[in-house]
Amino acid sequence: MTILLTGLTAATMRGGYGLIHDAAIALDDGRIAWVGAMADLPEAYRLLDRHDLGGRLVTPGLIDCHTHIVFAGHRAAEFEMRLQGASYEEIARAGGGILSTVTATRAADQAALTAAALRRLTAMRRTGTTTIEVKSGYGLTVADEVKLLRAARALAGLSPVTIRTTHLAAHAIPPEFKGRADDYIDQVAIPSLHAAHAEGLVDAVDAFCEGIAFSPDQVARLFNAASALGLPVKLHAEQLSDLNGAALAARHNALSADHLEYLSPTGVAAMAKAGTVAVILPGAFYTLRETQAPPIAALRAAGVPMAVATDCNPGSSPMTSLPLAMNMACTLFRMTPLEALLGTTTHAARALGLTDRGQIAPGLRADLAVWDADHPAELCYPIGAEALSQTIIGGRLDA
Ligand code: NIG
Ligand code: FE
Repeated sequence: MTILLTGLTAATMRGGYGLIHDAAIALDDGRIAWVGAMADLPEAYRLLDRHDLGGRLVTPGLIDCHTHIVFAGHRAAEFEMRLQGASYEEIARAGGGILSTVTATRAADQAALTAAALRRLTAMRRTGTTTIEVKSGYGLTVADEVKLLRAARALAGLSPVTIRTTHLAAHAIPPEFKGRADDYIDQVAIPSLHAAHAEGLVDAVDAFCEGIAFSPDQVARLFNAASALGLPVKLHAEQLSDLNGAALAARHNALSADHLEYLSPTGVAAMAKAGTVAVILPGAFYTLRETQAPPIAALRAAGVPMAVATDCNPGSSPMTSLPLAMNMACTLFRMTPLEALLGTTTHAARALGLTDRGQIAPGLRADLAVWDADHPAELCYPIGAEALSQTIIGGRLDA
């Protein structure tokens, strides 16, 4: 399908916003063939079918590079407990938290998990998301982790949104391994990685490095298993305390280190040196009423690319909207609207190791979001009132 989009302002995200007014974008066979000012349109594209966007703003399709959308049940009761003063860690140590979702998720079959995840994915697409990373991590047995990754991959047949899957068996220690985290790494995390990889279900490997989860040594063993399979790694690091997780991730050439509220200057330097993306997750900060913000100014000064994601999950970030995450990143962390949009486009693509998207440029995938807005900063400042007009995925316009 070949089409010329006209009557638009393009935010190409090349060299800042890379704004082009009175622009046109030629789409050919799922790719962007040309983008520029209408006045410069080459002869070859003049006769294409035209689709006028009425002066709207077009950005790259948004990329949510950190989500946990495959799960059953909900955690509304814990929300109330936290409002009465219980902390996320206290609830986790008492067997709630992630483990309460594990109980519900183990009991659900693959089709039910896919159906539940599809509802979340559909909500995400309605706010401009065209690529999403999906983690496992609520199964915590070999069979259940594989079940979650299969459920995630099945989404690709039900939605045009690109699905990237991340193995996160090292998310929590299930009750049957209580006090035996090393055994869990050897008997579940690594074997489930091998089993899922053998089925082609794994694009990357993640872990939760934290006092209530896994130690840096345990994470390193898992990362070595990932490297042996040629899989890239990423890490939930420095969310609740500083265990030097980001530096560990950087030593393993991680695509990203995520959360980072307690990141130290050493961690910042290690990430800068390795080119590891900092994935900022303001939804979890907001939900847990965290008070220590990630060191945005230090990351900026060190030139660490920053991505922004929803962290959509039933416990710490029950949120599907990337524009809302961008709003929170600006208001809570003083990221600029430009940084927030780079964080859900160019830098989010990099956090997933994807080089074919995240900007509007010839040769890249024709994944676009069309907004009822004049300027990209307008995407960040409304609270929960996103101005999405439509998405275009792989060159296909929404019906
Ligand atoms: O990214 N930090 C660990 N994992 C998730 C929370 C998952 C949950 O509470 O269910 C996160 O915040
Ligand atoms: Fe997470």
